[in-house]
Amino acid sequence: MSSSILVFGATGVIGTYIINELAKELRAGTFDRVAIFTSQNTVDTKSNIVQNLQSQGVEVFVGDIADKDYVRGVIEGSVKPTSGTPQSKPFDTIISAVGRNAILTQIPILEIAESVPTVKRFFPSEYGTDIEYDPKTSPSEPPHQLKLKVRAYIREHIKRLEYTYLVTGPYSDLWLGKTKNPRVGSFDVQAKKATVLYDGEGKVSFTSMEDVGKLLVAALRHPEASRNRALKVNSFTATPNQVVAEFERQTGGQKWDVEYVPRDEVLQSEKKAHEEGDPFATAHTLRRIWADGSTLYDKRDNGDIGFEGKEESLESQVKKAVEKQMHA
Ligand SMILES: NC(=O)c1ccc[n+]([C@@H]2O[C@H](COP(=O)([O-])OP(=O)(O)OC[C@H]3O[C@@H](n4cnc5c(N)ncnc54)[C@H](OP(=O)(O)O)[C@@H]3O)[C@@H](O)[C@H]2O)c1
Repeated sequence: MSSSILVFGATGVIGTYIINELAKELRAGTFDRVAIFTSQNTVDTKSNIVQNLQSQGVEVFVGDIADKDYVRGVIEGSVKPTSGTPQSKPFDTIISAVGRNAILTQIPILEIAESVPTVKRFFPSEYGTDIEYDPKTSPSEPPHQLKLKVRAYIREHIKRLEYTYLVTGPYSDLWLGKTKNPRVGSFDVQAKKATVLYDGEGKVSFTSMEDVGKLLVAALRHPEASRNRALKVNSFTATPNQVVAEFERQTGGQKWDVEYVPRDEVLQSEKKAHEEGDPFATAHTLRRIWADGSTLYDKRDNGDIGFEGKEESLESQVKKAVEKQMHA
């Protein structure tokens, strides 16, 4: 099992949940060593997060992810951490949670990791839709392109290093929120108003962000089951109409005002968003992919990594969504 872990992208949206679980396990003695590789900008702008991690025993390496020599030094163990007690144990696992704009920075890191024999396993930044779900449509989906390049690099160039793609589908914490453009789906608790795609009857498999961190730890605890594959995990599966019903139940039982957005309109506005360079275009496409049913599998893999029955529920996620909007 992994014992010495280096994380890239640890202070990001999902990285924060991943590193929190890893730090918890470090404190509990499950792992010998947890470290993050981050930038000076992050240290300056997110000092609270970085200090909190340091106080839990997480080592911090500060440098430029594009500086191959420095990255190699960190991975090989020839460079001391910028802060934290240096450990002599070499890294055996690299976890990447870098953002969408930094997906290709993983290729040189993979190249280095492949050449350092102590590194056994790499988790590329996935944590979303299965980018190879449908052989006909997935290869041309714009949001998948960079992640597909990373998978292609692994297929062609990685011979020794093991990998795991943690495929989680959409994060329920985000999907259950109120969006700026409700026509891509939105739940407005104060107004008791929901906008859902199509007829609201399509099932979607969601993972809560807390579960993403826990599922990653579960994958680390089950190295054989998680080896060299896309692990398709989730917290729960629900239709948008079931989500609306749960919101109604938790907000006094009154019916919500629900609007349905036909697929034609979703496709048209998605095309326009891409043509106009709308920063929300990627999210738009992903929401269409999810509404089309591309998070559903005959069987989920939670049980393979000992997580079946430990997942967060629709009920608890809606409760959090209600609390978040009522206290916004
Ligand atoms: N399933 C879903 O609903 C969903 C939603 C959002 C994201 N995701 C997936 O989760 C993964 C992480 O996304 P995220 O939204 O968490 O990422 P993010 O917050 O945008 O960025 C994560 C981290 O990446 C590093 N980073 C960002 N830009 C960089 C650059 N130009 N050069 C070097 N490092 C850079 C930073 O690391 P430091 O922390 O070290 O500064 C940053 O904190 C992605 O694969 C994304 O597709 C899935």
